[in-house]
Amino acid sequence: MGLCFASLAPRQTPSSSLPYSGSGREGTSVDGGSSSSISGNNAVFPRVETRNLKQFNFADLKAATKSFRSDVLLGEGGFGKVYKGWLDEKTLTPTKSGSGMVVAVKKLNSESVQGFREWQSEINFLGRISHPNLVKLLGYCCDDVEFLLVYELMPKGSLENHLFRRNTSTETLSWNTRIKIAIGAARGLAFLHTSEKQIIYRDFKASNILLDEDYNAKISDFGLAKLGPSGGYSHVTTRIMGTYGYAAPEYVATGHLYVKSDVYGFGVVLLEILTGLRALDRNRPLEQQNLIEWAKPSLSDKKKLKSIMDERIEGQYSTKAAMRAAHLTLKCLQRDHRKRPPMKDVLETLERIEAIKNRRQ
Ligand SMILES: Nc1ncnc2c1ncn2[C@@H]1O[C@H](COP(=O)(O)OP(=O)(O)OP(=O)(O)O)[C@@H](O)[C@H]1O
Ligand SMILES: [Mg+2]
Repeated sequence: MGLCFASLAPRQTPSSSLPYSGSGREGTSVDGGSSSSISGNNAVFPRVETRNLKQFNFADLKAATKSFRSDVLLGEGGFGKVYKGWLDEKTLTPTKSGSGMVVAVKKLNSESVQGFREWQSEINFLGRISHPNLVKLLGYCCDDVEFLLVYELMPKGSLENHLFRRNTSTETLSWNTRIKIAIGAARGLAFLHTSEKQIIYRDFKASNILLDEDYNAKISDFGLAKLGPSGGYSHVTTRIMGTYGYAAPEYVATGHLYVKSDVYGFGVVLLEILTGLRALDRNRPLEQQNLIEWAKPSLSDKKKLKSIMDERIEGQYSTKAAMRAAHLTLKCLQRDHRKRPPMKDVLETLERIEAIKNRRQ
């Protein structure tokens, strides 16, 4: 294992600097990609000292996932595929499909250097912290050139699937469930921001919000997470990574990453939740492709707001609740990061919105 964290890395290929991946990731390197080039900040935890993480061997994970067969594929991201697997609950050894505990196994594309960095970061962060609104990492595998991560399975998949995949069998999320999900995700982010070693998540988006059986939201993917600023700095400087449409403007422009940069990403997801539309969609008419630019002017006007709200949830919420949610979205999307509310306040506002029961109010 020491080898995995110290010197072993997948083959360095020119394409691995990740100029732009299919999933919308952005990797405009401004510092050559070294995680030690953070000003006033310890970029990553120096050495892995993780709690109770199991180190799996590749053969066991292959057996648990029916040899990574396509019929157990849960999804695919920029750096690899995620499969459903079955393990014995006590021993965490592979069992027959349908018996034991169901898990999610993420298998990295072996030639991606950025993927390897994210694999390490995931273990460094999720191996140390736990919270009901963060997805649970059970273990990892580094076997020659194979790098995998094993998580608790989130049976309802990602928020992205529910909001945007209209042709599948997934049912439409109700207003109440949407607010519940927003609250869970806000609680997860607030926890990161207020933990002893402040953590900036940096990749807040609908595909990284996973849902359990009861639609409790858990944040996943700590591959881009950073420790917050220290030594009197207000920000960390790092190369620009993230996803088009969700990254905060100050971060995209300067590489300066603030805790409040995450709040912007939260605002984008809140807008997606309200409208049922993707942050960026090149299939929409030109002026509507960037959801934030197109929808922002409508968020402070009752009538205009009604016209951009997701029609699938019409009649399920009061005007007062919708207006408050829209107002909160606007605050999170402020261009000046200092004007955005802290996640603790965002969470409290969402809880107040949830308490508005009367549809006619
Ligand atoms: N623990 C899990 N339980 C259930 N499904 C999961 C789990 N983790 C991931 N998935 C599914 O696999 C998909 C791919 O996840 P992954 O994190 O690799 O990529 P992504 O978040 O969609 O994109 P990107 O690589 O740009 O972050 C998710 O969108 C989700 O549908
Ligand atoms: Mg993800």
